[in-house]
Amino acid sequence: AQVVPFYGPHQAGIVTPRPEAGLIVSFTVVAQTRDEVEDLFRRLTERAVFLTSGGKVPDVDPKLPPVESGILGPDIAADALTVTVGLGSSFFDDRDWLKPLKPKRLKTMVEFPNDALDRDLCHGDLSIQFCANRADVNIHALRDLMKNLSDHLVIRWMQAGDVPVIPPKPDGSSESARNFLGFRDGTANPDAGDTALMDRIVWVEAGKDEPEWAKGGSYQAVRIIRNFVERWDRTPLQEQETIFGRQKASGAPFGGKVESDLPDYAGDPDGRLTPLDSHIRLANPRTADTQANLILRRPFNYSNGVTKSGQLDQGLLFIAYQADLDQGFITVQNRLNGEPLEEYIKPVGGGYFYVLPGVCCPGDYLGKTMM
Ligand code: HEM
Repeated sequence: AQVVPFYGPHQAGIVTPRPEAGLIVSFTVVAQTRDEVEDLFRRLTERAVFLTSGGKVPDVDPKLPPVESGILGPDIAADALTVTVGLGSSFFDDRDWLKPLKPKRLKTMVEFPNDALDRDLCHGDLSIQFCANRADVNIHALRDLMKNLSDHLVIRWMQAGDVPVIPPKPDGSSESARNFLGFRDGTANPDAGDTALMDRIVWVEAGKDEPEWAKGGSYQAVRIIRNFVERWDRTPLQEQETIFGRQKASGAPFGGKVESDLPDYAGDPDGRLTPLDSHIRLANPRTADTQANLILRRPFNYSNGVTKSGQLDQGLLFIAYQADLDQGFITVQNRLNGEPLEEYIKPVGGGYFYVLPGVCCPGDYLGKTMM
């Protein structure tokens, strides 16, 4: 019954250690007026507080429908659940009173050259990222919110994923979990436990030409990226490694031995060791001027069954957080455009959202600084 604190300057679920199960859900918001939006935010906060702390489900007269789904039984365990709420560009654009309050870099996700976006899997007014130790805890929380907020929220699309949690080794070192292309994923992610670093790359500060209310929030980029796994599994190991710029078994960079070894690009200006167009070198060239483009990734692997053409529908539910969407995800994705990995991946959905600042304490609610 592990509880992740709900209250704080930032919402939980971003720098929180990643548990096994993740779920991103996008909604259309029906609430229009200030009063309706306030009602949505207050009730959403109330339910999120209950779900993330756990507790007993009240008994009701059996002639009435049960209070809630019952998926977790009468004693709800928190199980490391986090509920992280973000707002899409359309939420502000479609409400006159909210237009002046829109975060400066929030926009509708555009189609990048390798994308084949399915409109039914994109964008939305409000996103909720659920993360927990088990997938049924996320489903339970989603069902609870949909039941209790059906007057305000209509579901648009969702994508679940999971990733194993790998405990640290006895010597304190750790290894990253693997994605569905078989490579360790998360190796070079910035350290989410480094508060000063997170303040710089993840959290929006006050006064940084963003609206005052947005302080403590973060930009969320979500991408549903299909992997062509049948094709990948027929690709030579050497080519797979060259595409990413890392060794498959260990996760080490070329010329290194262990996953935590750093690639040396200064000593390899022509890319003889780590190709200039490899995924990791394009994503982060590690030069002084590209330090402003660091992002915090929090992806999950997904498996959605079989496509109509008889291929496995698997991929990466890519989720990244950054203080500046333009400098972060958008710049990194633009650098990756045309990368050799594109032959094996196809982004099909996702969107950009602004994660609201945290809720300080009982009585406060999500989005209050905006109201
Ligand atoms: C690194 C896989 C999409 C940004 C990596 C690594 C792998 C990987 C295996 C090396 C290990 C690590 O540092 O985590 C994938 C796969 C993708 C994908 C399979 C799609 C299915 C993306 C996208 C972005 C991105 C869309 C951002 C636009 C990065 C960054 C790094 C990285 C910033 C770290 C580079 C470094 O600092 O050395 N990715 N990735 N990746 N990826 Fe991706």
